[in-house]
Amino acid sequence: MKIRLAMLASGRGTNVANFIEYFKIHELIEVALVISDQPEAEVLKRAAKTAIPHLLIRREQWKDTELVLGIFRQNAIDYIILAGFLSKIPAYLLAEYPERVFNIHPALLPRFGGKGMYGLNVHKAVLINGENQSGITIHLVNEEYDEGHVVFQAQCTVEPNETPESLAAKVQQLEYQHYPRVVEQLVLHQAL
Ligand code: GAR
Repeated sequence: MKIRLAMLASGRGTNVANFIEYFKIHELIEVALVISDQPEAEVLKRAAKTAIPHLLIRREQWKDTELVLGIFRQNAIDYIILAGFLSKIPAYLLAEYPERVFNIHPALLPRFGGKGMYGLNVHKAVLINGENQSGITIHLVNEEYDEGHVVFQAQCTVEPNETPESLAAKVQQLEYQHYPRVVEQLVLHQAL
């Protein structure tokens, strides 16, 4: 049996699509489940076009320990991968998956992280602060937003004429390039 990833996303789900493509013919790892907390999220529509099971767990339902753990156990999930997921991961789920929940943040943590730092807000903050570098951070998830152990960072240059949208596009390219590969390495390393 392959190592099974659950992907959690609230928005467009381009990283989820990239993972699905990356692991499509992988021998050891598969994207086994896509979960969103937003009924209208594009990620659910994307997943519906694939053979991968997808479901909605509404924001208020994450409090329901039995319901949520039941879903993860029934689907035999080994790792949880966040890709633009807005709800907080509850403590009981972190306890069930120690060192097995990963997130990507579209900036160089520990700066430009925390509550409300999501999507374009992050890139606007980087530009307002006059930074000449930004990038991505892949980290373990703990109970605080964006504060878990950092496992990987990659940088890009912020040009003088950069807009939040152009920076977002640049950062997303780094995400597509690195996130599945870094998760693959971490998971296979832990499995050995
Ligand atoms: C990604 O850029 C991810 O880094 C960011 O949300 C975007 C989701 O894009 N995550 C955060 O801001 C977390 N604080 P996608 O839905 O197209 O994959």
